[in-house]
Amino acid sequence: MEAIRRTRISDLLKSTAYGTTVNVRGWVRTRRSSKQVAFVALNDGSTINNVQVVMDVDKFDEELIKLLTTGACLSVNGTLVESIGGGQSVEIQAAEIEVLGECDNTYPLQKKGQTMEYMRTVAHLRARTNTFGAVFRIRHNMAYAIHKFFHDKGFYYFHTPIITASDCEGAGQMFQVTTMNLYDLKKDDEGNIKYDNDFFGKQASLTVSGQLEGELAATALGAIYTFGPTFRAENSNTPRHLAEFWMIEPEVAFNDIIDNMDLAEEFIKYCVQWALDHCMEDLEFLNKMIDKELIERLRSIVDTKFVRLSYTEGIKILEDAVAGGHKFEFPVYWGVDLASEHERYLVEHHFKSPVILTDYPKEIKAFYMKQNEDGKTVRAMDVLFPKIGEIIGGSEREADYNKLLTRIEELGIPMKDMWWYLDTRRYGSCPHSGFGLGFERLLLFVTGMSNIRDVIPFPRTPNNADF
Ligand code: 4AD
Ligand code: MG
Repeated sequence: MEAIRRTRISDLLKSTAYGTTVNVRGWVRTRRSSKQVAFVALNDGSTINNVQVVMDVDKFDEELIKLLTTGACLSVNGTLVESIGGGQSVEIQAAEIEVLGECDNTYPLQKKGQTMEYMRTVAHLRARTNTFGAVFRIRHNMAYAIHKFFHDKGFYYFHTPIITASDCEGAGQMFQVTTMNLYDLKKDDEGNIKYDNDFFGKQASLTVSGQLEGELAATALGAIYTFGPTFRAENSNTPRHLAEFWMIEPEVAFNDIIDNMDLAEEFIKYCVQWALDHCMEDLEFLNKMIDKELIERLRSIVDTKFVRLSYTEGIKILEDAVAGGHKFEFPVYWGVDLASEHERYLVEHHFKSPVILTDYPKEIKAFYMKQNEDGKTVRAMDVLFPKIGEIIGGSEREADYNKLLTRIEELGIPMKDMWWYLDTRRYGSCPHSGFGLGFERLLLFVTGMSNIRDVIPFPRTPNNADF
């Protein structure tokens, strides 16, 4: 076959260079044939749109045409021509076709309309479908938008460790990292495992959050963000929890909780606007196939001022709802850790807008949050979103050395792991704030997908680490 430089289908579909000879490569989505002509819809992943390859059946070997099956990989040379039918503006009149990779009828993606559950069992191939292609292109665009947002604001991207000896959230949900022989664990006289001879000479785990190291960086570089994988061994089999997820954690010196809320709101709106500006073809597909209100919801978020209210006020609204006959699965009272149904009631029923809830009871929040004068609450903030519930969790941090130390002692957090963190409060302590955005929760919102397993290429959840 004549060697011609490949054109990506996304570029080709914008071209008006009718009559030129081009080469495209990609995977067959569908083939239709009549006696005289065959039409092959080819996709190369650069866009959701296929290019139509038109073949005069007479000019090609019958055996070759039989190999143009759904899933097969082709290289096509042909002439770019203006399309007469509706849909695309251009198509390719094929001159030469080479089958780079055949695909037989055991290919799992031949049938349309498979369930999401089924698609998870073929996650190694599902990115070749329209839906998952759209989701993963949007995922890339959101990652890019996040870096751009922070870079343009003068934040530094700071890399925090993935292996750590401290439990940032103190929730005891860490996966251990060890090179010890689990069949022959050395224990001391009390039956405790001896980590002295383990790889790091102490117990180590995968991080649940980069925040603590992020705080060190904020008190040096001023404004930083992390963007990396985090791990939680929480046994929650829900459509919103993963054992491995990506988190973005900005941390800013001298920001108080109001600044923190302003940053969170501006940040999310920027990301959503970016999707509307740069991912419209994929969004239109998802709007049509997955969630009919998606684009409208995205547009409305960008234009809505998020409601801000305290946890205590939020509880009151929920208690009034219960008194008025609304049934929740889980109880509502001051002090309770809100369930997703409570968060969604506030957002979807009561305010019909995103809500930033602040000043939570200290018992249900992490040790590092700034303590309020009332002695009961801390300067926490959770951003709650329609369909998602909590999308961001953050706080102003406790900057006072003694208050922080007391809280660490109250909670029995081992100080040997925390001395370096406390040094930020010992040497030139400053007010500072930050938050964590769950990347996949943002993607759930932006794509309209309903299960978090379907917005990450290879989900890790209880009993699943395939691919
Ligand atoms: O509220 P979280 O636990 O907060 C922290 O980790 C803080 N250290 C963040 C900070 O202040 N720098 O988690 C932050 C966000 C949640 O709001 C949620 O969006 C997401 O991370 N998240 C999860 N996403 C998917 N699967 C899970 N298991 C998640 N747990 C939290
Ligand atoms: Mg949280």
